[in-house]
Amino acid sequence: MATSITVEEESLIPSPFVLKYFPFIPVKGRGCRLFDEAGRGFIDATSGSGVYLIGFNHEEVVKEVLDQVRELFNYTTLYFYNKPSIDLAKTLGELSPGGFSKKVVFGFSGSDALEIALMASLHYTGRSRIISFSDSFHGTLYLPLGVSGILRGSIGFDGLLAYRDVLFVEYPNPYRNKWGVDGYEQPGELTNLAVGELEKAVRETGGVSSIVVEPVQGDAGIVVPPRDFVREVARIAGENNILLVDDEAQTGLGRTGAWWGIQHYGVTPDIVVSAKALGGGFPLSAVIARSEILDSLPRVGLGFTNMGHAVSCRAALATIRVVSREGLVDRARLLGVEVLKRLGELGEKYHFIGDVRGLGLMIGVEVVEDRRSRKPSRLKALKISWSAWRRGLIITTLGRQGNVLRFMPPLNIPREDLEESLRILEEAVRDVAEGRVPDEAVENIGGWGSW
Ligand SMILES: Cc1ncc(COP(=O)(O)O)c(C=O)c1O
Repeated sequence: MATSITVEEESLIPSPFVLKYFPFIPVKGRGCRLFDEAGRGFIDATSGSGVYLIGFNHEEVVKEVLDQVRELFNYTTLYFYNKPSIDLAKTLGELSPGGFSKKVVFGFSGSDALEIALMASLHYTGRSRIISFSDSFHGTLYLPLGVSGILRGSIGFDGLLAYRDVLFVEYPNPYRNKWGVDGYEQPGELTNLAVGELEKAVRETGGVSSIVVEPVQGDAGIVVPPRDFVREVARIAGENNILLVDDEAQTGLGRTGAWWGIQHYGVTPDIVVSAKALGGGFPLSAVIARSEILDSLPRVGLGFTNMGHAVSCRAALATIRVVSREGLVDRARLLGVEVLKRLGELGEKYHFIGDVRGLGLMIGVEVVEDRRSRKPSRLKALKISWSAWRRGLIITTLGRQGNVLRFMPPLNIPREDLEESLRILEEAVRDVAEGRVPDEAVENIGGWGSW
């Protein structure tokens, strides 16, 4: 379905920078719906890749943004002062775990926030190594790419990145892990194995500055580790004076049914990274850390000209206000339990739905050839995604093999739209079960995990 826009884009934007799913051109967004040029509405069950926590173009965000735009777009915070960024720093300091003194650095994306967080941890500790986890994703700048387990060994950067200073240990994925342990049946066993590997890495390596962890792995395919695991990671970090860097780019701000994913485990990290949903749709990220860590960096104006952009900060403040006022963190927790149960029932009906898991409204549906073999099926996952799109639901894929459907609707999705998304998803699964989606429909899809 080539249009002038799709053809033009392909001639102008390099393919390594896109993961296109369908020839879909969204031109308008309201609530949980995107509209194409013909005015057809689609429920976006991914919240624009985890960005639109309270839906598209929320009126309160629009108002804040317009008020700011009318007065002054922004002026570099490197030179003078800017109230929205100070207000947001204060809010994030209060909202994040830990009663200690904190400071906040702003960026534009999860990647740049991770770059800053890791750079600060290297500098503060004076140590050069970082521990990360298998299948993790932390972004695509130099340091974040280097600690992203999911891209390692497959994208041709191995000789260039500082992998010699990064140690990858197994993230305890209960559904599939290198030990073949069923982590749902035996969470203790899986935790012990993963903790043992981490302890060994710390003991044998030395010089570790930080452990960087996603409290629920996102791009790995929404992987929730056993409860005790993250607590153990924090214990090991604490006992060895290693900083704990908590990557909340995807899990933060209520998505998992807690303000921060790591709060499910009662853990207080040294550094929290927030991005994606933070800017309410505008580019914004934040590194929230113990003051002394960020203050330790050399005073050479490490910042970016447009950091703490006033428009993005106003959008962020409005987003946080709406999440708080409307009790959306609790709503995510409660709805999450219900959706997991209902999608789990879908899993019982169709042999190629291998696993349904998640926390709050961060839910993954893993598609396999069949439940017995657990062989990942990227093809079937893409077919479900394609069929859902044709029926008016955007649901994309994640995971190293690109075989996990990502169900992450806005936290304020109206009940009837939630019902409609679940209904369409089931219809799409049935389309695939009954062979109604030809292979050719998905053969040109880029998609996550297509490298
Ligand atoms: C956990 C995590 N960290 C970092 C990033 C990178 O964020 P960005 O794409 O905004 O650079 C992502 C993006 O998916 C993410 O999920």
